Amino acid sequence: MSDESSYRVATEFSGKLAKPPWGYRQWMLTGNPAIFFDHLANRFGDFVHYRGLFNFYLINHPDLIKNVLQQTNKNFDKNTPIYRRFANAFGNGLVVSEDNRWRCQRKLMQPMFGHRAIEQFFPVMVASTNEMLARWQARPNQESSFDIAPEMSRLTLEIVGRTLFRDNFGSASEKIQEWTHTIDSYSAKPPIPIIRDLWFPSRRNRGLKRTLREFHGFIQEMIDERVATKHGDDLLGILLRAQDPQSGQAMSHTQIADEVLGMIVGGHETSSSALTWAWYELTQHPETLTRVFEEIDQVIGSRPLEIEQIKRLSFTRMVLDEVLRLHPPFWFENRNTRQETKLAGVDLPAGSIIVMSRYSLHRHSQYWRDPNQFNPHRFQPKHEENPRSSYAYLPFGGGPRICIGTHFAMMEMLVIMALIGRHFQIELSLEDRHEMSAATTMTPKHGVRVIARPRVL
Ligand code: HEM
Repeated sequence: MSDESSYRVATEFSGKLAKPPWGYRQWMLTGNPAIFFDHLANRFGDFVHYRGLFNFYLINHPDLIKNVLQQTNKNFDKNTPIYRRFANAFGNGLVVSEDNRWRCQRKLMQPMFGHRAIEQFFPVMVASTNEMLARWQARPNQESSFDIAPEMSRLTLEIVGRTLFRDNFGSASEKIQEWTHTIDSYSAKPPIPIIRDLWFPSRRNRGLKRTLREFHGFIQEMIDERVATKHGDDLLGILLRAQDPQSGQAMSHTQIADEVLGMIVGGHETSSSALTWAWYELTQHPETLTRVFEEIDQVIGSRPLEIEQIKRLSFTRMVLDEVLRLHPPFWFENRNTRQETKLAGVDLPAGSIIVMSRYSLHRHSQYWRDPNQFNPHRFQPKHEENPRSSYAYLPFGGGPRICIGTHFAMMEMLVIMALIGRHFQIELSLEDRHEMSAATTMTPKHGVRVIARPRVL
């Protein structure tokens, strides 16, 4: 797909629906589905009707995607095997809820995630990152390599956990890590009917049910404590106090528990995977790494990190934008047609599954020059390719279901990059072996082994 000559400014979709032979290369779907969807789009075009053991319509054109996610979004819902499995794993929170329930929840929660509102969580982000750096400083051998992926995962879980529960997170962190791991690994498995239905008595299903009981018990305890003490300046306290300005309605405790679970699961593996890829790309591109460090030194110097400085890290932000293009953490999207629906002139029957791969979209040679190249400069504000407003770049989704945690995640990732960059020189270890894995999130299969040497400031 990396043919420079096919790059052009986005034009309207004028293609046709392609139909590969029944069961075409079906086996690839169980290996690496991102590579399979990429192959389908390269071989058959931007609108593909796939038929086999799984049936779906693949869309890989910004116009079609805009249609589904925004212009005619009411014709589509999340009644798909993948979202049903997410509902099994983390309840009926924003990620999976629909219609009125989704609208009310989103309206209540939107203000908590606005640009200004999330600034109150900046100190938690800084404190958690500094604690991780203190652990790194205390390592007996600074020359030995380690996998940065579990470090990023633990840190982002800590940040979302402390944002929600403040100090209560500390005492429960081991348990929460264990519960989250069980939920993540259930969500990442293919949605095989019956076997993944929770009534089926497999070991994994029993483990998930036990985990959910324990997790809900913990969240309920946290809620009871805040209700009893009428206290809580953490996100859980804010959720408990939130009321619809018109109706005065608040969320039920069950709703809050579902939202909390959704935020913990959806809000940490995503940022952690992006950060892991960021360190991978930076260590592969030493000149970019040097520029990031120079920017961090220039903007922050040796002063304690302040929120205003984060906003001035414009090159580091471009690096993150480019990482999210090449390695979109939540790489796969799917919807169901509620009723017979027209898309690009084609009648799709009710109950059709629509899938899109951000991995393929973000590497589409018609919208990106040298799409497989890591090039943060394409995110300069006036760059001809700059696609922030178009549907060719959707790391956080688009339309009304766009990620509610976008500003939170961007601030968190910038804080972590800035503090690591200020205190450590990161180098890719020679032992690193690279392979991409695409389950719920897109991650480096074997992690990313780095050497982190303290910087002399
Ligand atoms: C780099 C980090 C992140 C990425 C790439 C990401 C990506 C996404 C995407 C693509 C969607 C849209 C799914 C759809 O179209 O239905 C989404 C939705 C959502 N995300 Fe994120 N996310 C990130 C971080 C976070 C964080 C930190 C939180 C919360 C603390 C969060 C909470 C949510 C929620 C609640 C939704 C559902 C929104 C709705 O349907 O109204 N995400 N995310």
